[in-house]
Amino acid sequence: MSVGLISVTSPLKAATAPQSGPIRYDSAARTFRMDAGDVTYILGVAEDGDLQTLYWGKRLRIQDPSPAPRTEGGSGFELPIDVTPHEFVGWGGGLYVVPNLKVSFPDGNRDLVLHYLSHTIRENTLTIKVKDIERDVVVDLIYEMDPATGVLARSARIENRTKEAFTIEEAFAATWNLPSSSDYQLRYLTGRWASEFNLQEQALHPGKVVLESRRGSTGDEVNPWFAIERGAQPDQDTGDVWFGALAWSGSWQINVEQNAANRVRVTGGFTPFDFAYSLKPGQSLDTPKFYGGYSDGGIGGASRLLHRFELDAVVPQSPNRKLRPVLYNSWEATGFDVNEAGQEALAEKAASIGVERFVMDDGWFGKRKDDHAGLGDWYVNPQKFPNGLKPLIDKVHTLGMDFGLWVEPEMVNPDSDLYRAHPDWVLNFPGRPRTEGRNQLVLNLARPDVRAYVYGFLDKLLTENDVAFLKWDYNRNWSEPGWPAAPLEQQKQVYVEAVRNLYNILAELRAKHPKVEIESCSGGGARVDLGVLRYTDEVWPSDNTDPFDRLRIQNGFSYAYAPGVMMAWVTDSPNWMNNRSTSLEYRFLSSMQGGLGIGANLNKWTPEEFATAKTMIAQYKRVRSTVQEGALYRLISPENGSEHSVTESLSKDGREATLFAFLHSSQLGESYPRIYPRGLDEAGEYSIRALDGQLDSRIPQHASGDYWMHHGIEISLRGDFQAMLFTLEKVEAK
Ligand code: DGJ
Repeated sequence: MSVGLISVTSPLKAATAPQSGPIRYDSAARTFRMDAGDVTYILGVAEDGDLQTLYWGKRLRIQDPSPAPRTEGGSGFELPIDVTPHEFVGWGGGLYVVPNLKVSFPDGNRDLVLHYLSHTIRENTLTIKVKDIERDVVVDLIYEMDPATGVLARSARIENRTKEAFTIEEAFAATWNLPSSSDYQLRYLTGRWASEFNLQEQALHPGKVVLESRRGSTGDEVNPWFAIERGAQPDQDTGDVWFGALAWSGSWQINVEQNAANRVRVTGGFTPFDFAYSLKPGQSLDTPKFYGGYSDGGIGGASRLLHRFELDAVVPQSPNRKLRPVLYNSWEATGFDVNEAGQEALAEKAASIGVERFVMDDGWFGKRKDDHAGLGDWYVNPQKFPNGLKPLIDKVHTLGMDFGLWVEPEMVNPDSDLYRAHPDWVLNFPGRPRTEGRNQLVLNLARPDVRAYVYGFLDKLLTENDVAFLKWDYNRNWSEPGWPAAPLEQQKQVYVEAVRNLYNILAELRAKHPKVEIESCSGGGARVDLGVLRYTDEVWPSDNTDPFDRLRIQNGFSYAYAPGVMMAWVTDSPNWMNNRSTSLEYRFLSSMQGGLGIGANLNKWTPEEFATAKTMIAQYKRVRSTVQEGALYRLISPENGSEHSVTESLSKDGREATLFAFLHSSQLGESYPRIYPRGLDEAGEYSIRALDGQLDSRIPQHASGDYWMHHGIEISLRGDFQAMLFTLEKVEAK
């Protein structure tokens, strides 16, 4: 790759050297242009030094004219500062929209006006320094464009070069500006425990939509992702879509503002709620990254781009990540009641059906017999495992599987040795109640001693035991978020430092124990975001394992996150959630749309169930690289009470499409809707094959991509909770 490094210290000395690479600076026009994938992003420096977004969308031709910065605004009530598409704006002048940065200086001044100072271009990264017009508050605006997808990562480093400390009251990573349109649809994801990732769609109107978590972590109430589509009747695979995701696992906020002229700005970063960050001279604060992307292939195209970006540029092993192994997890089978003999018996059964990873869930440590005690005491329970974990781990290895373990490192039960020894280690306000959630309190990971304890016990656990996988759980939100041991002006920094320390611990553990993979779980999907995905290999979207409910949860999940990071378990029927009964095949097919896990009580299975499971797991292994790594097309979405759901995964090389079809219940003798696959090579020849279920004998055995995509496929699913899996495979040209 060619490297273009341009450093410009003042606008007057702007570089005119020839530029290569995806980022170009036009020194005459004072514009920056980034091109990658199918996307162009242009920003410019206005005459007064303000940075403005000039274009974000479909890739333009290099010879196309570049838009120029301009100043708008028509009346004393509508100052230019409020209608300009700022890249990053301080709260100053008469700003009424959401600022990117708001500070309070010790002399009472709170006015901040940031203007261009200099810039640097290094390969895919552009750094622009802006500075207050008077004070030495300097902000580095960092832009990094992914060469393959055009997804742009934006963040800000706020630096105090003055001689006194000041307080940051609001810090947002970036603002995404969209052109004026009265035709925008906003999508975002909401939820609650056991019902995560509900897709919301609404028309945008002038006003503000605030997506936020005040919970100390990502939360499941809203997920830090958005998509905005132009057009009143959005279709899955056509239309302009701008999307973004915040890489942060603490409290966060995304504001979608539309002004009276229908211009849209989306600003994301730390939530200002209860936020204050004191910056001493010489110190700096980094905001999270706020990613943004564009697709002209509709919301389906947008999520495929985001999936590719996540798998190839975000997750720890990217771009060469390993496929998710088929795992077994003990939680729904044995709950807290784990012991050596019981887990070994389950492990034997799991191995017999083709499971590759055996994970022992909650209950193995401290005095843990239910959720009232033990969290924080990370020694192996001697009654349950008199010889430590080694015999079980050895057994699991002998059976040809690797071994995984559940942990919940950031929490403590009041009934624990840890809490009795260190009651001051939890978030708290002295003299105030300590609200428990699931009988537990939140450790203050911002404290250096807590950070050292958490890293220390995990490092010891991984050093002393041959563990290949951690399921890292987090089962409550924050309350009374006090950090009394810190100096008063730093106490609210707990929101930032606790998350930073979490990330640091994860990074250090991974560096020291490189073979260990980690799953982010938070009582289901309450900590799924692009921040935690930089350190974890997979996520647990929901504790709800009802295979029918899961279709909707997984569908919502797929708007923002790749199937390749999504774990899904096959559990018992009737399912505890809804008391719904479904066939084992149906449960498998629902879970096979991501990383497959088995969470059923294998001690209760019949020989027929073992045989079915063995066949299904073998089929899954055949298609899993397509399912986990391929391009996802939502052919029929299980939204708005739909009776049907069909997903298609197209392998990276386009040679195989894997289709899962589900039916809730047949009604009035109506037939299943015809299925129209997408993304196939139009002229290529594909053969069709049912892996689970039966294809109608009228369906030809092979036909062109065009035939399958335009004639469609008629399947004959009938009954209640029916499902089938079939593939289209490209036939070699003779
Ligand atoms: C919540 C998780 O989501 C479950 O899968 C299980 O690990 C329990 N915690 C264990 O306490």
